[in-house]
Parts: sequence; C-alpha cells; structure tokens
Amino acid sequence: MSKILFDNVKKAFEGGIQVLNGVNLRIEQGESHIILGQSGGGKSVLIRCLLGILDLTDGDIVVDGISVKDSNKKKEYMKKFSILFQGNALFDSMTILENVKFAVSQVNNDKKAVIEIAKEKLHAVGLDDRVFDLYPAEISGGMQKRAALARAISLEPEVLVFDEPTSGLDPITGGIICNLLKGTVQSLGVTAITITHDLRVAEFLADRVSLLNKGVMVWTGSAHDMKDCDNEFAENFYKASNAILVK
Ligand SMILES: Nc1ncnc2c1ncn2[C@@H]1O[C@H](COP(=O)(O)OP(=O)(O)OP(=O)(O)O)[C@@H](O)[C@H]1O
Ligand SMILES: [Mg+2]
Repeated sequence: MSKILFDNVKKAFEGGIQVLNGVNLRIEQGESHIILGQSGGGKSVLIRCLLGILDLTDGDIVVDGISVKDSNKKKEYMKKFSILFQGNALFDSMTILENVKFAVSQVNNDKKAVIEIAKEKLHAVGLDDRVFDLYPAEISGGMQKRAALARAISLEPEVLVFDEPTSGLDPITGGIICNLLKGTVQSLGVTAITITHDLRVAEFLADRVSLLNKGVMVWTGSAHDMKDCDNEFAENFYKASNAILVK
C-alpha cells in the first residue's frame, strides 16, 4: 500500500474556477517527492486538500488507508502531517523557544520534558541558545526557516510538507536550508513532499518529481530523467529553468 494516494482529485472554487482537474499520484513510505509547477498552477491548493484544510470537489486522498473525507478519523489523519509553510507562520508574539515549546506540548504533557525537547529540536536545526529568547522578527529569514522546521518536526509527523522552502532566501542560505531539510528527512525517515518552482531544489531533494500543469500531473519520474522525458511541458520547464540560470 502506498503511503499517500491521490485518486482523481478535483477542486473547484465558487465562481467555477477549476484548479485541480483529476490529480492522480502515489507517494511511497519514506520517499522524498517534489511537486513542480508554474505559479498559480494549484500546488498549494493540492497541499491544502492533502492536509484536509480544503474539501475536495471530487475524488479522494488516502493516507495509510484513511480517507481525508472520513470525518470519524479526521484527528488521526491530520496528526500524520506537519508543514513548513511558505511564510514560516511562526507566532510573532512568542519567542523562538516558546514557538517550539508550543508544538512540543501538542504531543507531550510533561512540562519539564517539553522545555528540554524544544531546546533539543532547536539545536538539531542548528540554532543555539542565543536565539531562544528572541522574537521571529528579530532573527534572519534563514534562522526563521530553521525555527519553523524545529517546530514542524516537534509535532513528530509521519509526513513532512515543505511549501517553497527556499523562497525569499538568498541562494547561499537557500542551499544551506536545502541541506538541512535533506538531512532532517533522512535522519527521521519520514515521507516528504516539497513544493517548489526551483529545479535545482527539486534535483537536490527528490527521489521522484511530479509536474503539475493545468490541474493534472503530467509527468512523474526521477529529477535526472526529466530533461530527456518525452513530455512537452516537462521538457519546456527544464529548458526554461536552464535558460533563466544561464542569463
Ligand atoms: N480560496 C480560494 N478561492 C478561490 N480561488 C483560489 C483559492 N485559493 C487558491 N485559488 C486559486 O487557485 C489557483 C491556484 O493557486 P495556488 O496557490 O494553489 O497556486 P500555486 O501553484 O501554489 O502558485 P505559487 O507557485 O505562486 O505559490 C489560483 O488561480 C488561485 O487564485
Ligand atoms: Mg503556492
């Protein structure tokens, strides 16, 4: 059984905008899967459907045999996931340590242990004690990303979702964060889904890549095979990415 199954997923919004037109995809346990696609193509909508934040118009998403539509198992379903949001989504009024403590306390009732585990998670993502009492606005974008990752892994998820993990970061910091994400996914043995526009991020992180175009997955395969695949959209995406890099 696949870890995650997208079965003919459709999503339309009021006013008739059809964003997802029948997405089919299987993601295996422990896989690092990348979803690539153009801006406005529906990547974030697909993730919000996966997380149960948006209702499906049609089709189904099944994780470990549990349907996203099964309201009796909603809690069990949602507990499997943790997401690193595009904008980090740290609580501005809480310090970095408080942000992570809050997440740890969702899965652990022992107050003393919560503090220790929160510190351990922050150390694991390369943040030291000097930033623990600072607020998100007082630290750099790269550090915020690290803190958001510490919070995400504190929830002990089976599936980690990264939405545009390098957007807004300079290339050097983006590279460091990518390394951190890869190391984290490998050491935890979790299933990971990463959304990106960036082919280099895809090539670095992916076991497999899927391309979302006009609401359907038009190609799935290894990042390496993408440049030689016989799908026109994939080929163009690859060429355009390289053209932008060369300029
Ligand atoms: N709540 C909503 N109501 C109506 N339309 C929406 C809603 N959320 C998203 N959309 C539309 O769905 C389409 C896909 O948006 P989405 O945010 O999933 O794109 P994306 O692929 O994540 O883009 P980006 O790469 O820029 O983040 C867009 O046209 C957007 O306007
Ligand atoms: Mg998006």
